[in-house]
Amino acid sequence: MNVYDSARMRDALAVHGFTETDSVAKADVVLLNTCHIREKASEKLFSELGRIAREKKKSALVVVAGCVVQADGAEILRRSQLIDIAIGPQNYHLLPELIERHNRQKGRILKADFPAESKFDFLPTPQKSAAAAFLAVQEGCDHFCSYCVVPYTRGCEYSRPSSEIIKEAKALVKAGAKEIMLLGQNVNGWHGDKGKDLGDLIRELAKLRGLKRIRYTTSYPSEMTQNLINAHQDTPKLMPYIHLPIQAGSNRVLKAMNRQYTVEQYEKIVAAFRKVRPDIAISSDFIVGFPGETEAEFEETMELVKRVGYASSYSFKFSARPGTPASLMKDQISEDVKTKRLMKLQALLLKQQKAFNESFIGKEFDVLLTEKGKERGQLLGYSPYMQGTIVKAPTKMLGEIVHVKVVAASATALKAELLKG
Ligand code: 5AD
Ligand code: SF4
Repeated sequence: MNVYDSARMRDALAVHGFTETDSVAKADVVLLNTCHIREKASEKLFSELGRIAREKKKSALVVVAGCVVQADGAEILRRSQLIDIAIGPQNYHLLPELIERHNRQKGRILKADFPAESKFDFLPTPQKSAAAAFLAVQEGCDHFCSYCVVPYTRGCEYSRPSSEIIKEAKALVKAGAKEIMLLGQNVNGWHGDKGKDLGDLIRELAKLRGLKRIRYTTSYPSEMTQNLINAHQDTPKLMPYIHLPIQAGSNRVLKAMNRQYTVEQYEKIVAAFRKVRPDIAISSDFIVGFPGETEAEFEETMELVKRVGYASSYSFKFSARPGTPASLMKDQISEDVKTKRLMKLQALLLKQQKAFNESFIGKEFDVLLTEKGKERGQLLGYSPYMQGTIVKAPTKMLGEIVHVKVVAASATALKAELLKG
């Protein structure tokens, strides 16, 4: 979502004559987007600001955007004199205006409220796109998991109407997108049109001729509909991959996390996906060391992972985020125990990921080549199952979908050969 947000801020600034540069030294405005989800992500802000201070032109404006601003805007402005403008996630459409105001008045600006208007109504339609593009269809979250800052930083759930989404998708395709990843903190809760769900929206988008692949992330288990599950069977452009975070394998822990489903319900949803699409790749997020998590409860997570069999996953130590109920719970788990549990879980997840990847040796599929590889003559892309895939191919094939055969696999990537194209 942050990558998408940065692109939309770039688009908003482009209308006012700005062009993008990777060089901090050359920039007139340095834009730093931030994430507040875990402590480690937030801490990066100040080390990045140090680097920017050393590299930037004296006259360059420094803008900090994102959820850290939403949560702690006044505090970070106090802590770093370098910041000229701090802007929260719901105000990005105002960025050009704020830069202009700053240039006129020279005062530092904090803009982190939740305006009545939707930024999406004001942000310009994208003129640039990567071959694999992002498109936000839903933002914010009403779930209030007890550990999570998102409902406070991104605000309550908002779904964009399909007319707006289709307009943006058409612009992305015109600008070169072949794949679109639909984004939302709670994407399968999308309800932008009355009586329609994400499955219906995906079928609509699949009608766009230039669009070849559709993905979506992140889904909330108990909001999954059979209609969306069925789309994985009846809509070939929808890729066989679902990111479905369970977070923990113990019903007591799930309840304490305020997750509104049980392990049994989760596994039923997984079975429903596999029924319509037996080859579907499933991934999840996990949190270890939630307050009060016992060794036995952690082992329930390990058992759940063994039963489900994941293609890939993200796993984190519980991070006590200020303002969340879980940060105040008793029985916080020590760092040592969290580290031990995380290492054990990650070893299992990596083993599964390796086995999943190795099961593809000799198989064929299409890859959308999105970037250059480390070595000359190599391009990188994603398989339908979201595996990073290295293909020997000339640079001119960047942005193309090619048919390949897998020749080697590791835990983190596949190697494949071009079959045609
Ligand atoms: N501590 C650890 N992990 C967290 N996540 C969200 N909040 C926290 C937290 N306080 C993880 C969840 C979520 C992912 C995006 O980040 O697993 O699915
Ligand atoms: Fe955070 Fe996701 Fe829970 Fe919403 S559903 S509160 S974004 S973890």
